[in-house]
Amino acid sequence: MKHYIICGPPGSGKGTQSALLAEHFHLRHVSTGELLRKEISEQTDLGKAVEDLMNRGELVPDSFMLAMIRRVLLETTGVEGVLLDGYPRTKPQAEGLAELLRELGMTIDLIVQLSVPPDVILQRIQHRATVEGRSDDSVEVLKQRLKEYEEKTVPTIEYYRAQGAPMVDVDGTPDVDTVTKRLIHAIEKGSLEEGHRAGRELSTEEA
Ligand code: AP5
Repeated sequence: MKHYIICGPPGSGKGTQSALLAEHFHLRHVSTGELLRKEISEQTDLGKAVEDLMNRGELVPDSFMLAMIRRVLLETTGVEGVLLDGYPRTKPQAEGLAELLRELGMTIDLIVQLSVPPDVILQRIQHRATVEGRSDDSVEVLKQRLKEYEEKTVPTIEYYRAQGAPMVDVDGTPDVDTVTKRLIHAIEKGSLEEGHRAGRELSTEEA
């Protein structure tokens, strides 16, 4: 069972690309944001507990997320692997994931970081706000989500990079199809050269 992580700021295309990659590589797409929104829409105890935090653009406490990811990974069968979209976002979440994967005798096969400049992020989120009306897509809440990303998730990515985890950076700015092709290439290349590409940027020629 393969384990991939896709990370990047809000609006970088994690959800869009994860759905396409999951289909291509027969993976389970695990979006922690989607799982939490489902809990909210069903008004479960967890949903009620996290609704205000999410509407303010703040991260949900690590203890909730660790329990969620443990449940999801332990129940996943019948696929080639798991694509984690939006997890981990903090160092304790990364440590919890490492412990869980150790228990299962598995490792992280590749971490993909999508980069998109702030003006493109703003355009995409503003557009989605008009189409989908997601409650955390206002400009004010987006600012908070970006702050959380910079303060907690960027250091988490750096933590993986410092460990020499298999990692690739992909420019998420072009059209969806171009980004998908680059990601497929990165994952295929990653399975051939696992572990040898820590922190190296995928060049346009390679993509
Ligand atoms: P989550 O749902 O994960 O939100 P996010 O990280 O802010 O990411 P988005 O869904 O906004 O963007 P995306 O990168 O997935 O881009 P998308 O493909 O949608 O998390 C929401 C909240 O849940 C968090 O704020 C937090 O409160 C909580 N949470 C979740 N995980 C947590 C964790 N581990 N710990 C603690 N709290 C957690 O694309 C965005 C838009 O752009 C779409 O309209 C799309 O159609 C468009 N688009 C995508 N790609 C392109 C492209 N190449 N060209 C043009 N348009 C594009």
